[in-house]
Amino acid sequence: MPSETALKHKVFDLALAEEGRRKIDWAESRMPVLMELRDRYSKTKPLAGTRIAGCLHVTKETAVLIRTLIAAGAEISWSGCNPLSTQDSVAAALADEGTSIFAWHGMNVEDFYWCIDRTIDFGPTMTLDDGADLIFTIHKRFKDIAANVWGGTEETTTGVHRLRAMADDGALSYPVIAVNDAETKWDFDNVYGTGQSSLDGILRATSVLMAAKNFVVAGYGHCGRGCAMRAKGMGANVIVTEVNPVAALKATLEGFRVMTMDEAAPIGDIFITATGMKDVLVERHFESMREGAIICNTGHYDCEINIEQMEALKVSKREIRSDNEEYTMKGGKRIYLLAQGRLVNLAAAEGHPSEVMDMSFANQFLAMKFLADNKDKLENKVYTASKEQDQEIATLKLSTMGLVIDELTEDQIKYATDYSSGT
Ligand code: ADE
Repeated sequence: MPSETALKHKVFDLALAEEGRRKIDWAESRMPVLMELRDRYSKTKPLAGTRIAGCLHVTKETAVLIRTLIAAGAEISWSGCNPLSTQDSVAAALADEGTSIFAWHGMNVEDFYWCIDRTIDFGPTMTLDDGADLIFTIHKRFKDIAANVWGGTEETTTGVHRLRAMADDGALSYPVIAVNDAETKWDFDNVYGTGQSSLDGILRATSVLMAAKNFVVAGYGHCGRGCAMRAKGMGANVIVTEVNPVAALKATLEGFRVMTMDEAAPIGDIFITATGMKDVLVERHFESMREGAIICNTGHYDCEINIEQMEALKVSKREIRSDNEEYTMKGGKRIYLLAQGRLVNLAAAEGHPSEVMDMSFANQFLAMKFLADNKDKLENKVYTASKEQDQEIATLKLSTMGLVIDELTEDQIKYATDYSSGT
């Protein structure tokens, strides 16, 4: 049972704190941009007076972000944004150093919202989301709290889509920055982060050989592209399914086979959904899959694989390895569902590597600072982080990697906008 202390935290077991501290130390050694920001802003404390409620996967990388926000003067209260993604040792380390945190691995949906509610009780002036559950909860059940919130940020594609829909309907009560849409987030985290960590999750849960497998990627957005790229690199035969003709064309020209899921279902060995859409794998697909097919999801919500239909088709199931359930279907065929259809990269592995979260969370940090600096100056809509922020983060990241790039000369800058010169 999670241990609880005066509702300042609720985590699985505080005795895991030392293990968590070591994990966070390791992440800090791989996140130089965020550490540079910590160093810079721990002196000036631009977040003093802010109260940030966060709802984002409790990982070693998130702990580095939390410590950086605190160093810059913020007060924090945090919950996880997925019932299976919390790293209990990290949550214990954060609680042990006095952070208000409500998160443990394997919680149920009721506990999940209970934890979010505790971070709202804290009375935030800013919110930091991954999947928008915190913002939605505030808008649905804590309208009075929304009036005191200056702004929020959103980490993921699915959350940003929904928040834009809310803003279009005039239903958003405070400004939100779409951290996801920053180039130094989306072009790196979504592609290389999701690609590596999803394959990592599949391998930890199965330990199968990737070479020569038919690896079906549903959705060829940034996340699907990363999965396809990395599976190809391990020798799998990648098949892509799509609903968007442009994305399908990109996958085709990248050398992947493109077909419908109805065609892919009977030939796939491993399936991963990365669409942000519900019901991507449904009854008729489970019925036509091969014996031994492995299925998983790397999209934010667990609705991409219709598990209810899978449950209805099964005659029995057992956990064959951790994060790997064997479903025996009518007729005896076995299908393996990883991480209960939740984010396989966070539930069965550790999420994206620290090096890539370094840029994502530098964006989160600077977005929080921007909201604090621009309190009462923004409209209730979804903003994209500025080009300057992207340039600053990319420049810092390159310099921490010891890379130097060319600079345009004055003459070249002039040439770029000189409409009098042609062939
Ligand atoms: N989302 C994907 N990977 C993550 C990580 N390592 N930490 C926090 N959020 C994540």
